Amino acid sequence: MRLAIISDIHSNLEALESVLAAIRREEVDAVLNLGDVVGYNASPNECVELLQGQKFINLAGNHDLALLEPERAQNFNIIAYQALMWSREKIHPGLLKFLEAMPLTQELGGRFLACHGTPTSTDTYISYHFQGKRVFAQMKKQGSLKVCFFGHTHRRALWYRDIRGTVALREIVRPKLKLAPEGDYLINPGSVGQPRDGNPEAAYAIFDGEDFSIHFKSVPYDIPGAQRRILDAGLPPFLAERLAQGV
Ligand SMILES: [Fe+2]
Repeated sequence: MRLAIISDIHSNLEALESVLAAIRREEVDAVLNLGDVVGYNASPNECVELLQGQKFINLAGNHDLALLEPERAQNFNIIAYQALMWSREKIHPGLLKFLEAMPLTQELGGRFLACHGTPTSTDTYISYHFQGKRVFAQMKKQGSLKVCFFGHTHRRALWYRDIRGTVALREIVRPKLKLAPEGDYLINPGSVGQPRDGNPEAAYAIFDGEDFSIHFKSVPYDIPGAQRRILDAGLPPFLAERLAQGV
């Protein structure tokens, strides 16, 4: 099974279009979207409409859930909150069904799991060692799971657990990495619409279940176009500035 993994689109139409064009050139069996379709940027309707026309596996992120239930946004920082309230106002009611239907997790073939933050919370990050360890322990309880795909941090990551149970964050020394068949992994493809790892290009990843490899990829997109929409919408200018820096 060859999978394209995307996450954290955050209403960035220009970035989503570039990533989907790149994925069309890859031979993948399925596209897995790890959530946060909306929030921050200025094209919530266009992004949902574009996804509606695809046969992707779409999961809910914390921003998607907060758009449906704003009390979930209480812990958001002020800029995230303002953008979410703007999105709530702008979203076409007919598109809410798509967001409401997105599950929190998805198991694939009994070996792979997908979630937004962690398998038990859309709001929890996997950034630190203890958080990675906890998720590996949850996977072990579920038996045969080898890989969990996650997003939410907007940063690429590859966590590894060896057969002795040692957990480490593996350095992404090359874009394409072969995975150890005996290991378990937590994989974050980075963010399509608001990357925060210093590379402003729209990020995604290709996972190959056959040769057990992950290929981290990114594509340039029309950042000035996305910035213009943000400023025209009256959203906080920092949301436009950060796209150019990938922060
Ligand atoms: Fe996000």
